[in-house]
Amino acid sequence: MNKKTPSYYNHNGFLMPMGFPIEGFTSALEYKAQPSDIFIVTYPKCGTTWTQYILWLMQHQGEPLPPSEKLETYIPHLEEVGKEAIEKLPQPRVIKTHLPYKLTPYHPQAKYIYVARNPFDCVVSFYHHTRGFIKHYDFADGTFDDFFECFITGEVDFGDYFEHLVPWYKHKEDENVLFFTYETMKVNLKMIIIEIANFLRGDYLNCIEKEKILNKIIDNSSLENMEKDQQRWSSQRPENMPSFVRKGEIGDWKNYFSSEQQQRLIEKFMIKTSGVKLKNLWLDQGIF
Ligand code: A3P
Repeated sequence: MNKKTPSYYNHNGFLMPMGFPIEGFTSALEYKAQPSDIFIVTYPKCGTTWTQYILWLMQHQGEPLPPSEKLETYIPHLEEVGKEAIEKLPQPRVIKTHLPYKLTPYHPQAKYIYVARNPFDCVVSFYHHTRGFIKHYDFADGTFDDFFECFITGEVDFGDYFEHLVPWYKHKEDENVLFFTYETMKVNLKMIIIEIANFLRGDYLNCIEKEKILNKIIDNSSLENMEKDQQRWSSQRPENMPSFVRKGEIGDWKNYFSSEQQQRLIEKFMIKTSGVKLKNLWLDQGIF
């Protein structure tokens, strides 16, 4: 049987979802980062929305975003909306991007929050994302095995997982970079919020000075609470597709991978991360 592949726009070799306007991508690359900018940088499906919402809650003393509002209005996706839309936002801005290191707008005083997730759970989440956004990818009846082949060859939107993660990982000790994992968020969200506050400083520090606010942020950004109103996080997906906030688990990959797929991804992991100690991030996941 023929392998089914998602459809993408190809912008000079860089694959993007079909629904993203081409002008958005090209103008995003021209955005001039401002000293007060905060970028939330991720490879897709690694905890972007969760982190965006945590920042929003930190800015609003833990009070939830009204269900009628969309998170992306406040923290837009740079390469989807383009630089003009970002420039209309008041400063300081919080900006979401999936761009790789070399394409991300840079200013030495801007701050970059990078969230990494193990590639095994990432590909499973990315598979559900891709089949669910029918107008972006036309992959509603694609299988996990089909998608795995695209992921392992880096032929998915925003490019190869490792080519995104490794360069950012190499910058994780930079003064203006805060690097953490989705898995640490799951295990110790309080610690991560404290790290974010200490990294961003200013008003963000108020959130950790008052235990009540900190607890509100943790509670309102919980999977249970974020599951309640999916409209806030993403445009509608068809009823028969998994919702955007889906399972939110560590280790869901075990329900999808064959042992051959596991070996192949481990091999790719080892080749692509040789010389960097990336494996240490996920030693306790039963992967290696
Ligand atoms: P799963 O598909 O594995 O459930 P992104 O925002 O980068 O697209 O990432 C989406 C992933 O983050 C999805 O993973 C989603 O369920 C998970 N997620 C979203 N909100 C979460 C939360 N509050 N707690 C844990 N995981 C969350």
